[in-house]
Amino acid sequence: MDDTARPPHLHVDGDRLWARLVELGEIGAIKGRNGEEGCCRLALTDADRGGRDLVVGWMHDLGLDVAVDAIGNVVATRPGTDPDAAPVMTGSHIDTVATGGRFDGNLGVLAGLEVLETLAQADVRTVHPIAVAFFTDEEGARFAPDMLGSLVFAGGMALEDALDVVAVDDGARLGDELTRIGYAGPTPCPTAVAPHAYVELHIEQGPVLEDEGVTIGVVESVQGISWTEVTVEGRSGHAGTTPMALRRDAGYVAAEIATFARRLATELGGAQVATVGRLDVVPDLVNVIPSQAVLTVDLRNTDEEVLRRAEARLGEFLAEIALEEGVTIETRSLARFEPVTFDPPTVDLVEATAHHLGYSTRRLPSGAGHDAQMLARICPAAMIFTPSVDGLSHNIAEHTKPADVTAGADVLLRTLLVLAQPSV
Ligand code: GLV
Ligand code: MN
Ligand code: MN
Repeated sequence: MDDTARPPHLHVDGDRLWARLVELGEIGAIKGRNGEEGCCRLALTDADRGGRDLVVGWMHDLGLDVAVDAIGNVVATRPGTDPDAAPVMTGSHIDTVATGGRFDGNLGVLAGLEVLETLAQADVRTVHPIAVAFFTDEEGARFAPDMLGSLVFAGGMALEDALDVVAVDDGARLGDELTRIGYAGPTPCPTAVAPHAYVELHIEQGPVLEDEGVTIGVVESVQGISWTEVTVEGRSGHAGTTPMALRRDAGYVAAEIATFARRLATELGGAQVATVGRLDVVPDLVNVIPSQAVLTVDLRNTDEEVLRRAEARLGEFLAEIALEEGVTIETRSLARFEPVTFDPPTVDLVEATAHHLGYSTRRLPSGAGHDAQMLARICPAAMIFTPSVDGLSHNIAEHTKPADVTAGADVLLRTLLVLAQPSV
């Protein structure tokens, strides 16, 4: 489509988008010690229901066709002029980690709504429908794996298996929680219709764009993710009377595993990262040697080969330390996704669109997981990043400047419009 076919001066209303981000952020709002305003809206909790209800209300206010599917994904569609054309889709998630911010995921969903409101106000019709989705349980903080809703949407996990996943915090079954909050919908999942394309706006969640003074990140890929839950069984005993050589200390072994993970990432170098984010010891008392430790190891790399090597070395270390310390160790995979490369022409389109609007750009891989990587299984997909202040995310101090939010949404608007083609 040549440039003259595009409405020339169409821009989102940045203030309206910001106001929605603030209003949605009030549901599950938490405050930091220094007054930072964060959000705790874990998947399928009452707070998640509150956030969902608010966003669905906005979708209805805009006259969109709202569908809730069997895993609780919500898709709101503005029709196109061609009844047979597949929708151009955007979206993200509105669940957060327990110490989350107001932008992670929420930005992509609300920017999508802002795009549709802008098009409606300007009375711009498109050939393809445009759909805005929010996907269930992107974070994986309560129900693993992460990106669960979009994974099922794209046919990567059986619906029944997903409904049977159990929460790490309270042992609730996902399907029961979905029903409890009223979001076990009638639309079949996986989707019957592959989108024409999927483009997601998201905060970078890292420091690169800010560091380089760049406004728009053009995301080429998402790194591979490996989450393992490790359970160490030792023997509890008296902290004062048990000689060091006679202990089977699950807490000590957990600490060694965490140290090993850190060393492993440093040794492998490059893009390898490793995190032990959860660690519970039993009985968790000052004067008792822990009998059990449950911890998680999050390994990520843009290079699948190196990620596999990291997993293998972790496995070898667990076997060695179990033998040395007289404990047993069991592992359970919580999530495993290979690196994903986005569709080059769609990535090029994001870049060209940002340049057309006068923004500086930088190509980069995503360090975080995203719903877009699941949609990439069924349609051409790409992502747009906006800078994160101090590179912070999964932190209540997460922030993105209003001007950057508006810039990202404007790039999203124009990219979606090119993909959906204005019917002039
Ligand atoms: C999900 O957001 C992740 O990257 O952990
Ligand atoms: Mn996210
Ligand atoms: Mn996140």
